[in-house]
Amino acid sequence: MRVLVVGGGAREHALAWRLREDGATVLAAPGSDAMATLAERVPLTDPKDIASWADQGRLDLVVIGPEAPLAAGLADRLRQRRIPVVGPNQAAARIESSKTWSRAFCRHHGIPGPRFGVAKELPKDLPVPCVVKTDGLAAGKGVVVVREEGDLARARALAGPYIIEELLEGKELSVFALCDGRGFSLIGDARDYKRLLAGDDGPNTGGMGAFSPVGEADLRQIADTVIAPAVDGMAAEGCPFVGFLYAGLMLTAEGPKVLEFNARFGDPEAQVVIPRWKAPFAEMLVAAAHGALGGATVEMSAEHAVGIVLASPGYPDDPQPGQRLPELPEDGLIFHAATVRRPDGWYTAGGRVLTAVGLGPSRDEARARASALAERCRFARAQWREDVAR
Ligand code: GLY
Repeated sequence: MRVLVVGGGAREHALAWRLREDGATVLAAPGSDAMATLAERVPLTDPKDIASWADQGRLDLVVIGPEAPLAAGLADRLRQRRIPVVGPNQAAARIESSKTWSRAFCRHHGIPGPRFGVAKELPKDLPVPCVVKTDGLAAGKGVVVVREEGDLARARALAGPYIIEELLEGKELSVFALCDGRGFSLIGDARDYKRLLAGDDGPNTGGMGAFSPVGEADLRQIADTVIAPAVDGMAAEGCPFVGFLYAGLMLTAEGPKVLEFNARFGDPEAQVVIPRWKAPFAEMLVAAAHGALGGATVEMSAEHAVGIVLASPGYPDDPQPGQRLPELPEDGLIFHAATVRRPDGWYTAGGRVLTAVGLGPSRDEARARASALAERCRFARAQWREDVAR
C-alpha cells in the first residue's frame, strides 16, 4: 500500500512511523529530514501542486496532518481526482477554520458548549471573566482567556470577528474519532499541556506534552452527546466529515462541553495516542477514506503513553534554533517536529523540536521513561515541562 502523508511535524512523523510499522510504503510532502528515514520525501507544500503530483503518484491513500492544507481545500482537490483521503473537505474543515461557523453548528445540532455571542468589534464593557476567540485559524494564538481586566489588552490585540464565550471551569480533555462521513470509531483520549511552564504558567503554546489514556470521563457518553451529533450534523449539512475529528472538551459539573472542534489529529496528542492503537492502522484509515468503517471499534493497548515536548530557547515568541542535538537514542520513540540533519549530526530548526514518548504499564512508568528519553535528547537551553502527566 502506498500512502502519502501531508505535513512534516511530529504528528506526521508519528503517522508515518505507524503506517510504516503496518507495512505501508510511505511518502511525505514535504516531510522532514527525520521522516526521510522511513518515507520518501516529495518536496511540495502547495495544495495545487500536491494534488497534481498525487494524480501520478499511484497512491492508495493520502493522510493530511495539519489544518492549513485542509482549510485550503487539498482534500477536495484529491477527491475530485478520486484519490482516497483521510482529511475533511474545505466545507467540513470549517468546524475548525471558522469558529463562528463551528459554534453556530454546535448550537444548531444540540452539542453542549459554553454560552457565546459573536461580534465584529469587541464591546467596551466586555464581561469579565470570559474567553475571546478570533474567527479564523491562528496557529494556537487566537484565544485569550480574560480572567481579569489586565487580560483585556491581549484580547483587544486579536483580529475580529470575535466569539465571546462564557469561561468554563473544569479539567480539559481531548477526544479523537476517526470518521468516514457517516459514522466514526473512537480512537482514544489525551490531555495536553498548552502552557509553556510547569504549573500551567507562562504563555500558550502549540502543546508542551500529553498523556493518554486520561481515564476521567465516560468516553461512550462523549461519543453519544458530542461526536455522534457532530458527525450526523455534518452529513445533514451536506459536508460529511471524513478524517480525524478532535473534540477539545471541558469536563464541567454539568457534563462535558465542547471548547473547540479541530478537523485533524492533535499535536502532541497524536504522538501518545497513535502508539497505543492496536488495530491495523493503515487498513482502518483506508476504510475511513472509503466511507466503510462499518462501526469498527479500535482496540487500544492497555499501556499508558506520555509525551514530553522539547522546545527551543525563546519558544513560543522568539525561538532560537540552530542548537546541536546529542546522539539520539535509537531505542526510544522520538518524533521530530523541527530538526535538520547536517553532515555532523542533528540540529534544532524551529520552536517545538521533538516529542519524546514513553510507554509503560502505568502513567508513572510511562512518565519516567519519557523523562529519561527527554534527558537523552536534551540540547543547550532546551525548554520542557517536568510536570507532564504528574
Ligand atoms: N495540542 C493542541 C492542538 O493540536 O491543537
